[in-house]
Amino acid sequence: MHSIFRENLLAGKTAFVTGGSSGIGLAMAERFAAHGARVMLIGRKQEKLDVAVRGITEAGGTAAGIACDVRDYAAIEKALAETAVRFGPISILLCGAAGNFPAPVMGMSANGFKAVVDIDLLGTFNTVRAAYEHLEKPGASVLAISAAHAFNAYPMQAHVCAAKAGIDMLMRCLALEWGPAGVRVNCITPGPTDDTEGMRRLAPDETSRKRVAASVPLRRFGTKDELADLALFLCSDAAAYITGSIYLCDGGTSIAGKNIGPNFNESVTT
Ligand code: COA
Repeated sequence: MHSIFRENLLAGKTAFVTGGSSGIGLAMAERFAAHGARVMLIGRKQEKLDVAVRGITEAGGTAAGIACDVRDYAAIEKALAETAVRFGPISILLCGAAGNFPAPVMGMSANGFKAVVDIDLLGTFNTVRAAYEHLEKPGASVLAISAAHAFNAYPMQAHVCAAKAGIDMLMRCLALEWGPAGVRVNCITPGPTDDTEGMRRLAPDETSRKRVAASVPLRRFGTKDELADLALFLCSDAAAYITGSIYLCDGGTSIAGKNIGPNFNESVTT
């Protein structure tokens, strides 16, 4: 595992990670654990959680997993309470649970739109709302995984764009409300990230992968390790004065404003 950080930055802290059984959420959880945090992983499937927990513990970290759906407020509330009892007050709250499928507005039902908004936006609300009483105050760091969809419009992604824009504003409002309690709240905006469920859905074949990579100013996919480095920084004391920020880690994708997805129009040739 690569990390630019060498010290045990999160010793004694507790991290609660939704969307923690795979992808970007798991990569960040692994990084928190490698730096001494006790990590609670939240995902919908127990089998995936078991594999993820085993990976962290075999690497010498402390982790556990609770299967629940972030759309279910009572379930997430219970998981947070169990975490606080087992691991102590929560210093790191990472809202990473997300859903996506490519479809035009006229190709999705109201329930399809709702499914993504409920997982991404309502799920983030449920998690932060239920977590507040268990957060370390002062000192906790709250992170949400957003996307360039929050400020760029993409065809086939209206549901995700609406949800991610909501997440960015929710987090900025929280930064205002929770700042006086010493709780920092920030967003991380990944670009196209290799080896994630999202990219497998949006760029399922080699041709679309090449097109997506060509649309990134740095001309490549990002890695989960690069995102984990940013999450570690934002949770560390090195970021003690940073709140209400939207941090881009996307190879410049957001400023280029190119459409990502199976049907976007290729225009970058250099
Ligand atoms: N195109 C159009 N509509 C779709 C769709 C697609 N490709 N995939 C799902 N839907 C619709 C379903 O038809 C359903 O609507 P309906 O009841 O009117 O038929 C609605 O979305 C909910 O589908 P369901 O499968 O019951 O939802 P779910 O809660 O089990 O799954 C999803 C949520 C749809 C977001 C699913 O893709 C998912 O679980 N994703 C998690 C993993 C993921 O997306 N990771 C990437 C994150 S970037």
